[in-house]
Amino acid sequence: MRNVTLMEAWRRSVLVLAWLLVMAVPLTASAQVIPSAQVLSRAVQDAYEKFKDVKEGATADYIPELAKVPADLFGVAIVTARGDVYTAGDVDYAFTIQSVSKPFTAALVMQEHGSADVIRDKIGVEPTGMKFNALLATQVIKGVSVNPLVNSGAIASVSLVKAKTPEERFSKIHRFYDRLAGDKLSVIEDVYQSEAATNQRNRAHAYILQVSDRIYSDPMEAVDVYTRQCSIGITAKQLAVMGATLANSGVNPITRAKVLDSKYVPKVLAIMMTAGFYDESGLWAYTAGLPAKTGVGGGIVAVVPGKMAIVGFSPRVNEAGNSVRAMKAIEFISDELGVNLFGSGR
Ligand code: DON
Repeated sequence: MRNVTLMEAWRRSVLVLAWLLVMAVPLTASAQVIPSAQVLSRAVQDAYEKFKDVKEGATADYIPELAKVPADLFGVAIVTARGDVYTAGDVDYAFTIQSVSKPFTAALVMQEHGSADVIRDKIGVEPTGMKFNALLATQVIKGVSVNPLVNSGAIASVSLVKAKTPEERFSKIHRFYDRLAGDKLSVIEDVYQSEAATNQRNRAHAYILQVSDRIYSDPMEAVDVYTRQCSIGITAKQLAVMGATLANSGVNPITRAKVLDSKYVPKVLAIMMTAGFYDESGLWAYTAGLPAKTGVGGGIVAVVPGKMAIVGFSPRVNEAGNSVRAMKAIEFISDELGVNLFGSGR
């Protein structure tokens, strides 16, 4: 009798062990899918070498100061969800974050309001299929300001950051970015002044939003805070840490600080996937298959959930306002590493 009980206990512990092993397989597998240091460092170096001589596109000049940025700069960076860093080229040059800022402010708004619904209900989450500053999109789609990654939705997003003054609103955004990057970021004042003097189109967006009750602070104050936000200086390496914080479910993998509640990460990535490249978002999903965000400063951050962020920086942008070499570099790396979210096709 006693022997049977021992046998039974042994049988049960074997079963429990087997069950634990089965449960551990996906965990181990997902931890292992971050490619090795050798593979990541090679992918970054190869992307840099392959595209360093590409000259397509031109520096954005509708913000006059941006036309002065040296066009040949080129940097590629990967930061993993474990906090490992791989870089090539000009990854320590601070360029203006521009529209790459937009998903991060949307994340802050979700967190401050305690719900992702605020973005869906007060701004919208539909891609426009139009340019990032198309007034037509802001006018045509009624009830919402389109999505937080085009200019009108991004200005509305800024207006939803809870604050009593524009200074407090900007400071909240700035500090949030500092925590995402794990570093102290600064506004590039010349670019801010240059855009502030020439941003009549963004002011038009804000007034259109105001007449249809789709902006939630003083419209001109929101445009000014948005312009400052876009003028924050960031390096490719710092931007990759911001992206890796999203890849790591809201925890900065370098500082280990919990910056964003993990429940908002899929929402932020969803809008990046569908609208991160404006009228080229479909093409981007078709080629790289990763949620990403571009900016006219030449930066692009792509996120591989649970694994890493991939950043390209190169100031020459195409007609859609997306950096040509950064796109090529990220597409290449996505393909090399087989991290396209829709499958590697291999
Ligand atoms: O509002 C603007 O036009 C700029 N501050 C940002 C635009 C931008 O980065 C478009 N993205 N590729």
